[in-house]
Amino acid sequence: MIIAQISDTHITLVTPDADRRMRDFARTVADINALDPAPDVIIHTGDIVHRGRAEEYAAAGEILATARAPVYVLAGNKDDRVNLHEAFARSGYLEREPDFIDYAVDDYPVRLIALDTLSSRSDKGDFCRKRVKRLIDLIDADTSKPIAVFTHHPPFDATEAPEPLQFETRDMMTRLRQALQHSGRVIAVFSGHVHRTAAGNVAGIPATAMPSIATTLRKGDYPAEMKTLPVYQLHRFDPEWGFATETRIVARQNIPARDFVPASRRQSGFVNAP
Ligand SMILES: [Fe+2]
Repeated sequence: MIIAQISDTHITLVTPDADRRMRDFARTVADINALDPAPDVIIHTGDIVHRGRAEEYAAAGEILATARAPVYVLAGNKDDRVNLHEAFARSGYLEREPDFIDYAVDDYPVRLIALDTLSSRSDKGDFCRKRVKRLIDLIDADTSKPIAVFTHHPPFDATEAPEPLQFETRDMMTRLRQALQHSGRVIAVFSGHVHRTAAGNVAGIPATAMPSIATTLRKGDYPAEMKTLPVYQLHRFDPEWGFATETRIVARQNIPARDFVPASRRQSGFVNAP
């Protein structure tokens, strides 16, 4: 089983780098589409858009609609639960009117559990007691398979980041970490948010965060020839060894001849020539 993880595309229509963010996202999906073997699933670990607006989700949705593999999305701190739900409800995996955007996917050898770590107060993460109960229920719903958990905010101190703790309080992160250890079946945690590669663990469970797909927002030092090339991650599952992760640079030959322009930008005439 191969999971392609993407994160932090921060799609917007109004910033000076708006076209580039769309280009980064579209190039990444094109690269994933060209992989052989193809991934079984694509998971976006949040901050799909930058301001949580419906028109941003429309543009992001057009790009994701070009993906060949099934796509699942999480909410990040820049997302808006209501507008995200509206944009992706048709895909069928979200609850009808959820308080939180969390769910499990049972179609693969590893169960996938997506969590909601949003706070209404800040860009940092939250994990309240209600969400602990929801996570325990999701974990207990099937005891036959290992589980990979996806979160926007990483549940470990990202020591490379200016502020290592990604949750509002250490107690919130501890609640999440304890719930992740509940069954012994969670074998990996994959996150975004910090816009850079980071690795930690949750009491022995390997946990990683990936860089932002948006190259203008990516943190860390990249060589000049890579600065405009998005990177994403492939997580390959082996029943004996668990997950092995590869960070992949979008190949130049997979960059489409014409850059993607969403319908909303075409109609407004608000388009930079490709
Ligand atoms: Fe982000």
